[in-house]
Amino acid sequence: MGAALHGAGRPAGPGVGVRVAARLAVAACALAAALPLRAQEAQAQSDVPYVPTPPNVVDTMLKMAGVGPRDFVIDLGSGDGRIVITAAKKFGARGLGVDIDGNLVSAAQREARRQEMAERVEFRAENLFITDLSRATVLTLYLFPRVNLQLRPRLFEELRPGTRVVSHDFDFGSWRPDARVTVPVPDKPYGPPSSEVYLWIVPASAAGDWRWRLEAGGAVVDYELALRQTFQMLAGSALAGGRMARVEGGRMRGEEIGFTLAVDSGAGVERQVFSGRVAGDTIAGRVKPAGGGEREWRARRVKRGSMDIKAGSGGQ
Ligand SMILES: C[S@@+](CC[C@H](N)C(=O)[O-])C[C@H]1O[C@@H](n2cnc3c(N)ncnc32)[C@H](O)[C@@H]1O
Repeated sequence: MGAALHGAGRPAGPGVGVRVAARLAVAACALAAALPLRAQEAQAQSDVPYVPTPPNVVDTMLKMAGVGPRDFVIDLGSGDGRIVITAAKKFGARGLGVDIDGNLVSAAQREARRQEMAERVEFRAENLFITDLSRATVLTLYLFPRVNLQLRPRLFEELRPGTRVVSHDFDFGSWRPDARVTVPVPDKPYGPPSSEVYLWIVPASAAGDWRWRLEAGGAVVDYELALRQTFQMLAGSALAGGRMARVEGGRMRGEEIGFTLAVDSGAGVERQVFSGRVAGDTIAGRVKPAGGGEREWRARRVKRGSMDIKAGSGGQ
């Protein structure tokens, strides 16, 4: 597929999304002007013009999300249904597509029947702003940045931790993607001859105060950790046996948590690497102490904090 993998959250450069969105909007105006009056009326309700995702980009989106037979894929603004139909046909998933344009919904239903996927997928004429997202294990979008930002709070309210969100070309502003891939699209109708595919994994909340106890060299060490969370990123500070510690590289990936404690030992900084799974107010996982080896680690939350999902609302 010739995709080039970038570091997660690499900035696309100022204004790239806005420039691309502006080109899409110009293309939409030109398209609308060429349409008969009734079609123009239908277009007036649409928040984003119809531009289909090329098949190689559809494949990349579904592969990045790791779509499989246990998944339920929702495509918001599903066009001719290609993302949901491909998810069913190639990856064995089930799914739902919603689109404001009834003609596109009919075309998607016809295509699902033609490909013998009608049992596995549903297409509905519906405004995406009222679609119930809670069934999705994978959410796909090819919408404008402004629409993504309007949807962003709902993703944290309605989607379960671990749900994968994949977007073609447009991101969610300050919510940094967990992964990003560039896919060649030689005949792209706007912008450079490539598409960006972004992946986010809805994080569980780990914000708040945590406590645990570990044995080190025959002595018992008590830990007190205060975690702040902005989307999937964790920061904070801790006390380890009364010594100050800094949280480094803290991150959620769905319910998976990972961070390093840089403990000031008096004679230097010792790093302890923690990983585990958050389930409600407990974490169960493993720790790699500074001296080597690995052992079990269990923590409990004594005070809940709130995840900051409002940080910055600007798109790129
Ligand atoms: C860029 S196309 C993407 C189509 C398809 N998801 C794909 O990737 O091939 C955006 C789609 O969103 C639909 N759309 C725009 N505003 C919508 C809204 N408020 N509710 C539902 N669908 C909408 C348009 O009709 C169009 O089909």
